[in-house]
Amino acid sequence: MIRLRLTVNARAVEAMVEPRTHLADFIRDRLNLTGTHLGCEHGVCGACTLLIDGMPARSCITSAVACDGAHVTTIEGLDADGIASELRAAFSREHALQCGYCTPGMLISARDLVLRLPDADERRIRVAMSGNLCRCTGYVGIIRAIRSVIDQRRARGILPLHGAGRTALGMAKRSVGRRLPRPASRRCRNRATSRSLCSRRRIVCKIRSRSPTRLPACSSCSAMSPASRPACPACR
Ligand code: FES
Ligand code: FES
Repeated sequence: MIRLRLTVNARAVEAMVEPRTHLADFIRDRLNLTGTHLGCEHGVCGACTLLIDGMPARSCITSAVACDGAHVTTIEGLDADGIASELRAAFSREHALQCGYCTPGMLISARDLVLRLPDADERRIRVAMSGNLCRCTGYVGIIRAIRSVIDQRRARGILPLHGAGRTALGMAKRSVGRRLPRPASRRCRNRATSRSLCSRRRIVCKIRSRSPTRLPACSSCSAMSPASRPACPACR
């Protein structure tokens, strides 16, 4: 068991949890906050979405112990939130829910969108909400509701907020469209940009090739593929 300390809906929480406990299970079973719904339980449907340090996250695939020290906000924590109130009213007005199972996750994702999106373009809303699945409504009412809230807020002169109050996990704007760094294992330890420039490639070059059989053989063990080299002391 691991000691977990976090803040849930502005309330400090401390508990001993199994390392394998998911945040959704912890929130529902231990804190009795059952507004966070579980649908697919493997990160697809978005029903379990909540805010971790201000950023929407799937609680069914988030380990509870990974959130140690984080601020978690569930749908219950947005009772008094202005944007969530506007969205709830718009969802009712536009018939954006039927059974309501997807609605907590929808509201949390939609709130993040209302905070960040400069204008209410239907295509962008559809793309942004594509991580939340609804089996009842057909989405038309959901899109209309979100669009109306964004329209009304921008008409009232409320500007979008870059980062939307996100803190620890970083802003979406920073990561969207940027190339991710290559994993360290794809770089040569000798800092050469390619194997042909590596003066020590026969021993230390770890740059992977699509055709590993074309890698030069190690002078000590004659292995042609990096996978078979770890046994060789010169390659390690
Ligand atoms: S229950 Fe978490 S994404 Fe479906
Ligand atoms: S309202 Fe039923 S799943 Fe969305």
